[in-house]
Amino acid sequence: MKDGKFITMGIESSCDETSVAILADERELLSNVIASQIAVHRVYGGVVPEIASRHHLTNFNRVYQEALDGAGITLDDVDLIGVTCGPGLVGALLMGLASAKALAFAGKKPLVGVHHIQGHISANYLEYPDLKPPFLALVVSGGHTHIIDVKGYTEYEVLGRTRDDAAGEAFDKVARVLGLGYPGGPLIDKLAKEGNPEAVDFKRVYLEKDSLDFSFSGTKTGVLNYLNQKKLKGEEVCAADVAAGFQAAVVEVIVKKAVMAAERTGRKQLALAGGVAANSCLREQLGRACSKAGIALYCPSPILCTDNGGMIAAAAYRRFQAGIADDLYLDADPSLPIEI
Ligand code: KG4
Ligand code: ZN
Repeated sequence: MKDGKFITMGIESSCDETSVAILADERELLSNVIASQIAVHRVYGGVVPEIASRHHLTNFNRVYQEALDGAGITLDDVDLIGVTCGPGLVGALLMGLASAKALAFAGKKPLVGVHHIQGHISANYLEYPDLKPPFLALVVSGGHTHIIDVKGYTEYEVLGRTRDDAAGEAFDKVARVLGLGYPGGPLIDKLAKEGNPEAVDFKRVYLEKDSLDFSFSGTKTGVLNYLNQKKLKGEEVCAADVAAGFQAAVVEVIVKKAVMAAERTGRKQLALAGGVAANSCLREQLGRACSKAGIALYCPSPILCTDNGGMIAAAAYRRFQAGIADDLYLDADPSLPIEI
């Protein structure tokens, strides 16, 4: 406890961000330190799991100490340790988990394992005091594209998910073939502003009628085929038009399915989460569609959309309040289902 407030430490290491945050009570973030490995993985065009694990190991102590110092506390003040236990890269998850377990054991603190997507959704609680379950969540990141019915703080039902690429993965792959660099999402977002989204008509994939699942690999392949044909014919390619057309196709499907899910469930609140939630076109189109359909849209600020310890602390706090805790046998599960 610190100044009468319950202190939760949140630890995130499921992919390429090492992050530790300190949360006071339910939503006061005292610190949220994020060590990004983007520069390390950029040369490979994507995250290399083995390298990510090694960097978590070397980054952890510094990030942990900075988080404590930034919050003006010591480990003694911490009441709860929350850590991502899945899904994610198994070696990367294990680094955060081993650190969390060591701290829980040494400091005699309770430990709570957090599902990474539950963490992304919980980022919304940090910024929006009025947001309470039940509501719908749209999680769009490099590894996930899910529409989830959040029935309670610890009760989740997946209504739709991607059957192939995640939205962010498709952005990153298209950016790579356009020679834009890594990570591609923000670069496509920026370039698309200079292009005409109607110049090239890329395929929108809706799957079966009424399905809330996604499929982005067909749209991605459409971009590859378009570029190859242009090359064979020796014709110029306008990269900005390709970026704008691809982004428009992906965003249109996501927006339509999110609104369809709200109509089907009768939910009137939609919370956005995950790295792709930073996409300006998605924010704009979803904002427009939601206000037309009478749905309140919640979009956390970009720093809380990307992987961070704050969102894990927020989710861990809710789980602990609900009477859930784990022991030191807590293990990493790279494909942990969200209904934990
Ligand atoms: O949530 P996140 O930080 O990590 C995962 O859990 O995957 O999401 C990273 C993903 C990357 O694929 C990145 O390209 C994408 O989010 N992203 C964006 C934007 N900013 C980040 N995609 C589209 N537009 C953006 N502005
Ligand atoms: Zn994530």
